[in-house]
Amino acid sequence: MVDFTLTDEQKNLRDLAHDFAVNEIRPKAWEYDKDGTWPIDVLEKAFEVGLMNTHAPEEYGGAGLSHLDGAIIEEELSWGCSGITTSLGANGLASAPIAIAGSEEVKKEYFTSLTESLKFASFCLTEPGAGSDVSSMRTKAVKRGDEYVINGSKCFITNGTYADWYTVYAKTDMDAGHRGISAFLVPRDETVTIDKKEDKMGQRASNTATVTFNDTVIPAKYLLGQENKGFKVAMQTLDYTRPGVAAMATGIGRAAFEFACDYSKERVQFGVPIAMHQAIQFMLADMATKVHASRLMTYNAAVLLDQGKRNTLESSHAKRFASDSAMEIATDAVQVYGGYGFIKEYPVEKLMRDAKIMQLYEGTSQIQRLVIARETLLPRRAEEPAKATA
Ligand code: CAA
Repeated sequence: MVDFTLTDEQKNLRDLAHDFAVNEIRPKAWEYDKDGTWPIDVLEKAFEVGLMNTHAPEEYGGAGLSHLDGAIIEEELSWGCSGITTSLGANGLASAPIAIAGSEEVKKEYFTSLTESLKFASFCLTEPGAGSDVSSMRTKAVKRGDEYVINGSKCFITNGTYADWYTVYAKTDMDAGHRGISAFLVPRDETVTIDKKEDKMGQRASNTATVTFNDTVIPAKYLLGQENKGFKVAMQTLDYTRPGVAAMATGIGRAAFEFACDYSKERVQFGVPIAMHQAIQFMLADMATKVHASRLMTYNAAVLLDQGKRNTLESSHAKRFASDSAMEIATDAVQVYGGYGFIKEYPVEKLMRDAKIMQLYEGTSQIQRLVIARETLLPRRAEEPAKATA
């Protein structure tokens, strides 16, 4: 059965997130964008009302919400500001490898720490020389007795400056390509240094930093899954989290569409509101279709995960389509505003800058197409579960 009706609980979650976006995020979003300020006050409130760590299991003090619930919330928050939502949601990305491959002991310690008080965690995969090509990473983890020693630098790390925990991918066998990567949980200590905070085009309220591990020693129990099986943990993590990125892109697209609609009814040219001109109507119609299709693809990718099914293909469909659509919708919203759209005083230029990163982070649109092509031409075994721990 296919039914897109939200339950009363899901409608309540959507309303909670929407009210939060209206009252706590939007009033500050353009200010934080200007200054590139870390929105700690908004994050503290989000934590208080239960809009952070929604993925954390109930047994460790979390809400244990489904992937679909998470996507519904992320669209609303991102409608408010996707930069603030990136900061708000980064714990979810960092937590997925632990949910997928961590031992019960590590899950308990980590998730309890996140739900007891406001803490931040970062997902550390990308390196200066290893972006799309994950397996070329150089960060190294060496086993020493019952510990690992980690050395290397990770860049473009969301919340890197403020994180208490890092999930880190490192080579445990330098010569084995993707089969030599392992995943680790790394608590922050004085050996972890923050080298650079990026000054970004968009999503300026989110913190993006370079994080370096200098002989960082962790207990061996913080190895997530098996040694040299970390690449699959990373890929499974991205299958988990790309629907959330698609939901955020849907939120940006929807915000840009709504601003464009409202403006088109107010702006008068040639004696009528520009919404009366078919040239504008057709642009608005295409925006509406893209928002609608983005949301449906996102829900589809999230529901498969909730059913315990592999969603690699659907996740990439949703992430690719929603991100490209957000960019197109925001660009067209600027067009509907005309010259005013190019001016910072009007809301849509921020959305155009914010939308761009959706086509880049958590796998570029080109990488999503690569995944879609591979999954289509050479489908993986259907019985392979979504939650295999490598
Ligand atoms: N689930 C499980 N296993 C998977 C998988 C998946 N989704 N995808 C691949 N695998 C397995 C393959 O079956 C293969 O297994 P074997 O070793 O048994 O053969 C292995 O992984 C290697 O697969 P590929 O040959 O496909 O690997 P590849 O080197 O060609 O890379 C890729 C594939 C899709 C390009 C991948 O590297 C990728 O997704 N790159 C993009 C990375 C990315 O998204 N980075 C974003 C960083 S996070 C971020 O941006 C957040 C932030 O904070 C801003």
